[in-house]
Amino acid sequence: MSSSAQKIAEAAEFLRGNGFDGRFDCAMVLGTGLGRLIDDLEAPVSLAYDVVPHFPQPSVSGHSGRIIAGRLERKRVLMFQGRAHYYETGDAAAMRVPIGVIAALGGPPLLLTNAAGSVKLDFRPSSHVIITDHINYSGMNPLLGDRSEGRFVPMAGAYDERLRKKLKLAAIGSGVTVNEGVYMWFSGPSFETAAEVRMARTLGADLVGMSTVPEVILARYFGLRVVALSLVTNIAAGVGIGAHTHQDTKTVVAGAAPTLRKLVHAFLARLDEV
Ligand code: HPA
Repeated sequence: MSSSAQKIAEAAEFLRGNGFDGRFDCAMVLGTGLGRLIDDLEAPVSLAYDVVPHFPQPSVSGHSGRIIAGRLERKRVLMFQGRAHYYETGDAAAMRVPIGVIAALGGPPLLLTNAAGSVKLDFRPSSHVIITDHINYSGMNPLLGDRSEGRFVPMAGAYDERLRKKLKLAAIGSGVTVNEGVYMWFSGPSFETAAEVRMARTLGADLVGMSTVPEVILARYFGLRVVALSLVTNIAAGVGIGAHTHQDTKTVVAGAAPTLRKLVHAFLARLDEV
């Protein structure tokens, strides 16, 4: 067994023994400031990342680092409040153990959420975007150094079409406007220059951000169905006016949290519909 497989097995074993046993209907990674969704869970079981073997330690404000199991809309949900980013560690595989654990705990569909910058004026701050595809502009990959055959992960259709459709129907059903778009992964932590944002737009991106893509690659590697939702926190550099800060991200996220909450509830409610 590779050491990474062993770490995942140990983390999953620990979690199963601490209230994370049984079957899950959905797993979610909650991005910057979106962690309050855990308040909606019934009968929650919660552990800090630092007590779970081999889990990463997020260091960004707005990412607290807890794994929580509970019920929402009559579904059993596994939530990851806080992620470890490539820019924190220099390790693009920082989320390998948590994503691998989802597979080890039965492999439910995975919903990733993030905060992102928009490269076009019609995707306004506080609006939501279902990610249809991505461009990995970081030059990095979480599977670098992996020696298994499985590393050659096909990435066409990585963002599950059926889950995207459910998310779209959930948005329509709950009166939330969503757009669809392509997300381009920059390593961060510095924000993009105006020229980089122009390049992103020219290359076909709608959103820029510093997360999610490595998790999607890992999720596909582990055979999980995955869907991702961005909350636009700002218009990216050079497109609008003024500079964007991490504080702006947190402020917009706080304001938009109730809409996201509504959307997630509606998505879970229709998860078992065909
Ligand atoms: N760029 C990169 N990541 C981001 C941004 C941005 O403009 N906004 C929120 N996350």
